[in-house]
Amino acid sequence: MAGAKQHAHWSSRWAFIMAAVGSAVGLGNIWKFPYEANAGGGGAFVLVYLAFVFLIGTPLLVAELSLGRRGQLSPIRSMEKIAKEEGRTNWWSLVGWSGVIGSFIVISFYSVVGGWTLSYVVEAFSGGMTGITKEGAEAHFNSLVTNPVTPLVWHAAFMAITVGIVLRGVEGGLEKAVTILMPALFVLLVGLVIYSGVTGEFTAAVNFLFAPDWSKMNADVALNALGQSFFSLSLALGSIMVYGSYLTKDVNIGKAAITIAGADSAVAILAGLAIFPIVFAFDLSVGKEEGLVFMTLPIAFGQMTGGAVIGTFFFGLLTVAAITSSISLLEPSVSYLEETDKLSRKKAAFIIGIAAFLLGSLSSLGFGVLSDVTIFGKSIIGFKSYITNNLMMPLAGMFMALFIGWFISRKSIMDELAMNESWFRIWYFMIKYICPFAILVVFYNIVFGF
Ligand code: PFF
Repeated sequence: MAGAKQHAHWSSRWAFIMAAVGSAVGLGNIWKFPYEANAGGGGAFVLVYLAFVFLIGTPLLVAELSLGRRGQLSPIRSMEKIAKEEGRTNWWSLVGWSGVIGSFIVISFYSVVGGWTLSYVVEAFSGGMTGITKEGAEAHFNSLVTNPVTPLVWHAAFMAITVGIVLRGVEGGLEKAVTILMPALFVLLVGLVIYSGVTGEFTAAVNFLFAPDWSKMNADVALNALGQSFFSLSLALGSIMVYGSYLTKDVNIGKAAITIAGADSAVAILAGLAIFPIVFAFDLSVGKEEGLVFMTLPIAFGQMTGGAVIGTFFFGLLTVAAITSSISLLEPSVSYLEETDKLSRKKAAFIIGIAAFLLGSLSSLGFGVLSDVTIFGKSIIGFKSYITNNLMMPLAGMFMALFIGWFISRKSIMDELAMNESWFRIWYFMIKYICPFAILVVFYNIVFGF
């Protein structure tokens, strides 16, 4: 490819699916989904979230993967290249820029929470959770996150692991690790659901998660559900596009997208079913936000036989799930810098890793020494999460849909996807009309109210 290095490709279709599921399944499902659902009042949020995942998110996954595969370059260059081929303005590359900048912001705070999970592996392993009470679990979490130094060390460790993997490229150890560890996390989660189902308030949890109380729905909750669906599917940050660029033509993108969305939603729901029975049994529900998972599951591990071992495994696998997502967050900027031919992959990964660590340190300190700092009424991490999840991702997603639906020839996208004709029609309709319209409606309501 003129002026740019040729990307690597996935070694198999299965390796790609696992890496994409690895990107989607992460802290977003197990750490973020439960507290967003909690903040959004439960069932109504969950149903709207699932509707967004399947009606907007899945068609957009197909769109983003196909743009990546067609471009075969980093998100910015892919968008530039396709726009040029289709005789469109270069401005479309802004969609790629939004992805690269957004993924950089997300990795900066994602790594902070990844650091917390790492520290919980050690905590569980050392028996620190044995017999822990509700007050003990809260005190432990609070003392970790408010400390000015400890969480930064864990944040650095998490970032170092991410950088270490990214600099080896896509076909290194990562592919192998993901194919074993992702299924293991799934099995462990099912086990946890059974455990909390038996020992906690399962019926209350099911009612909370699935019986919608529509009075709790408003424009902000809808936007949070939309943002969460994008975040959870890793959409519109360039990660999926860059993974698409490592795809070969023989992969059926439609089927892959359904597998990714299905696995991702299943993990989020399982996480909810594992956590909320404990939340209700211990009356933990109010105002816990980012600490929810870290204050609930240790109580369960602390009470069960073999809890130290199971807890270690759980937080270990959660860390792995977080790492398979964080590498996909680093990849858009690294692939861009690498492609400019000025930097080696190694240097690019180091530079981005250090810069993201520094930006992330502010989010970490936002729980302690900088807790008085608010931006538009939000904490530092809350603000970063809002502008990426709720603004940049849905807007970039909307422009991606508009680009494919209205500015690329139908034939060229049809050739790229090579889908069965009737599936293609449905998908095309969703991308052309439903996705942009639905995202616009959500934004309209934020500005003008329901
Ligand atoms: N989908 C990941 C999760 O749910 O944890 C987070 C994420 C990864 C978001 C990659 C966005 C992205 F591009």
